[in-house]
Amino acid sequence: MGKKIILLLTVGVLAAYYVYTPLPDNIEEPWKLTWMIAVSKSITNLFMFAEFLGISHLMNTVMFFIALIEVPPTSDENVTVTDTTFNNIPVRVYVPKRQSESLRRGLFFIHGGGWCLGSAAMSSYDFLSRHTANRLDAVVISTNYRLAPKHHFPTQFEDVYAALSSFLSSDVLEQYGVDPTRIGVAGDSAGGNLAAAVAQQLSEDPKIKIKLKTQSLIYPALQNLDMDLPSYRENSHFPILPKSLAARYWSEYFTTDRSLEKALLLNQHVTAESSHLFKFVNWSSLLPEKFKRGHVYNAPSYGSSDLTQKYPGLLDVRAAPLLADDARLRGLPRTYVMTCQYDVLRDDGIMYVTRLRDAGVEVTHTHVEDGYHRAILFLDLKISYRMINHYVDWLMVTL
Ligand SMILES: *[C@@H]1O[C@H](CO)[C@@H](O)[C@H](O)[C@H]1NC(C)=O
Ligand SMILES: *[C@@H]1O[C@H](CO)[C@@H](O)[C@H](O)[C@H]1NC(C)=O
Repeated sequence: MGKKIILLLTVGVLAAYYVYTPLPDNIEEPWKLTWMIAVSKSITNLFMFAEFLGISHLMNTVMFFIALIEVPPTSDENVTVTDTTFNNIPVRVYVPKRQSESLRRGLFFIHGGGWCLGSAAMSSYDFLSRHTANRLDAVVISTNYRLAPKHHFPTQFEDVYAALSSFLSSDVLEQYGVDPTRIGVAGDSAGGNLAAAVAQQLSEDPKIKIKLKTQSLIYPALQNLDMDLPSYRENSHFPILPKSLAARYWSEYFTTDRSLEKALLLNQHVTAESSHLFKFVNWSSLLPEKFKRGHVYNAPSYGSSDLTQKYPGLLDVRAAPLLADDARLRGLPRTYVMTCQYDVLRDDGIMYVTRLRDAGVEVTHTHVEDGYHRAILFLDLKISYRMINHYVDWLMVTL
């Protein structure tokens, strides 16, 4: 009996130690977050174990459970919600119910999930789009796109671009009562990556006459060339998006072959032939002093096997918008970038802010000192509403 209790206690303590993560002092509602992290860490490890046993690909397992937190298109007192397709891409449309004397703003939103996960129907995204439509009195299009591991780059990009192109036709805008001079794109994480990428493509696309007024990038992923930025070093073990998971997502965007992920983690996935691109992600020159403090810049290290030849998408601007040259950046609309202190992707966003400003683009940068990846979706925590308000307030005055 005594032995069993001791065994149980030991297992309990070990399990608690295993899932417990010490958080920085300035994190709001630390116990709530610790609990959420512990639950998600345990579940993720279980799923990874299932993958290790060959039962199911990690992303497929997660997607199966995400389907359980999806909600059907349901209108409320303020907003009419419908599912439809644009150019065969499924989208969810939010139209405010109140009468409008004039045409409305339009916001094209792209969900995150590392190009592998998520949908417009997830309850948190559904809330965010509904709330945005109501507060801005805007028509919000929340797009879906095909996901990895079944589909790789450039499918995700092309699906989003196809849906956006359809939205930007005069017929569709007229049908929804949208003002063609007041349209923005927005997205979080991988959705921020896709938003930045489609905004660049659109600015150079002569076939589409209606252009964007704004782009809003919430903790976007913008490059994979340098996976050894200060933000990667500082937050490599921060839960929610540790460096290992970021590398997994990037790798899955291009291939199911896990050797790319290993090369990304070693930061040896490109050869010296790509050396000319490093100036676009040179954190030593692109980050403000505050974010460089305590870090030493290492010259790029090159790998021998050329993965960039095997997966040319790696260095394609449609996957890594930070690799665009200044001429391409110059055509971009007014930009909002939100970054979080405890996020491996922090420096991607900050370097883009510097590069856009250098190219003459007007940028508003909100840095959330106590923020972390995905926080805008954590609707049980106060930080989520703070971030949503920042994001919507900017659109309110700018779009
Ligand atoms: C409808 O809009 C009002 C005013 O913005 C808000 O107070 C209310 O909570 C909204 N209703 C729903 C269901 O979101
Ligand atoms: C990065 O910038 C630093 C100066 O800030 C410079 O010394 C270094 O050569 C640059 N490296 C690359 C690869 O561009």
